[in-house]
Amino acid sequence: MEKVAVVTGTSSGIGFETSLALAREGYFTYATMRDTTKSNKIKEITQKENLKISILELDVDDEKSVKSAIVQILDQKQRIDVLVNNAGWGLWGCVEDVSVDEFKEQFETNFFSIIRLIQEVAPTMRKQSSGTIVNVSSVVGRIGFPASPAYISSKFALEGLSESMRFEFAPFGVDVIIIEPGVIKTNFMKNMKMAKKSELDTVYKDITTKVVSGVKMMAEMGTPPKEVANTIVKAIKDKKPLPRYIVGNDASMFLEAKKSKTDIEFENYLKKELYGE
Ligand SMILES: NC(=O)c1ccc[n+]([C@@H]2O[C@H](COP(=O)([O-])OP(=O)(O)OC[C@H]3O[C@@H](n4cnc5c(N)ncnc54)[C@H](OP(=O)(O)O)[C@@H]3O)[C@@H](O)[C@H]2O)c1
Repeated sequence: MEKVAVVTGTSSGIGFETSLALAREGYFTYATMRDTTKSNKIKEITQKENLKISILELDVDDEKSVKSAIVQILDQKQRIDVLVNNAGWGLWGCVEDVSVDEFKEQFETNFFSIIRLIQEVAPTMRKQSSGTIVNVSSVVGRIGFPASPAYISSKFALEGLSESMRFEFAPFGVDVIIIEPGVIKTNFMKNMKMAKKSELDTVYKDITTKVVSGVKMMAEMGTPPKEVANTIVKAIKDKKPLPRYIVGNDASMFLEAKKSKTDIEFENYLKKELYGE
């Protein structure tokens, strides 16, 4: 039986590579993106390698778009075996500089959209008694630091959601996997937005500037997105998928340090690593 995968946010980076990796594994893959004019490169590779990839418009922030895409997929294939919730973006700015509306906008894409997709897809997976939901979180889904609380808390929320869902879906044969990449070399840093107030000369200007430049420096040595894609494929193929898969030496290093240090020791370690204090 042909297995079907759906990936969100495939115009670039991790989503792009994951769609290709899944198709190369034999999945009929729906590479979804909100702007399908960005699909030229994936179409070119699809043709060259004779892969089974279908490009579909899907804006994860838009309920109608999500429903319409999933209905089309189910009309065509009657099943969904893998859902990769990958679409996401990041917002810079310390908590006092980020409006509640800006927090909501960040959560809309990185958190609420995932609930939206899961609610559309899970009934089919339950009926099949099989399926895998992959949520692309981040190392910052378990580590907080300054200047990006909206992004970081959206990923913490995703981790909590994913942990809960593992229990709920397990009796129906549906696995839930969290992927925790460190810094990955994609368009992500370039696409990060700055909260409006953070552009001004606020009391948080200094710390925001320090963290942004520290993270940007780390990004230059980032892990290639193919490694995340390969980890996702491996995780899906595992007989008993683990709750979490970490990608990148930086992510492993930070998470190991968090495990081995007290909270206060870890805060001091992070300050040094991120902005040399
Ligand atoms: N790069 C990193 O260092 C890193 C580390 C840890 C976790 N992650 C996570 O990995 C995921 C993918 O990021 P990436 O690194 O591959 O960055 P990227 O190259 O910027 O890709 C992000 C993708 O998400 C899409 N997207 C954003 N908002 C969307 C919406 N409303 N509907 C549909 N698609 C939307 C973008 O589409 P457009 O082209 O239309 O904007 C793009 O395809 C994100 O969830 C991110 O939080 C990244």
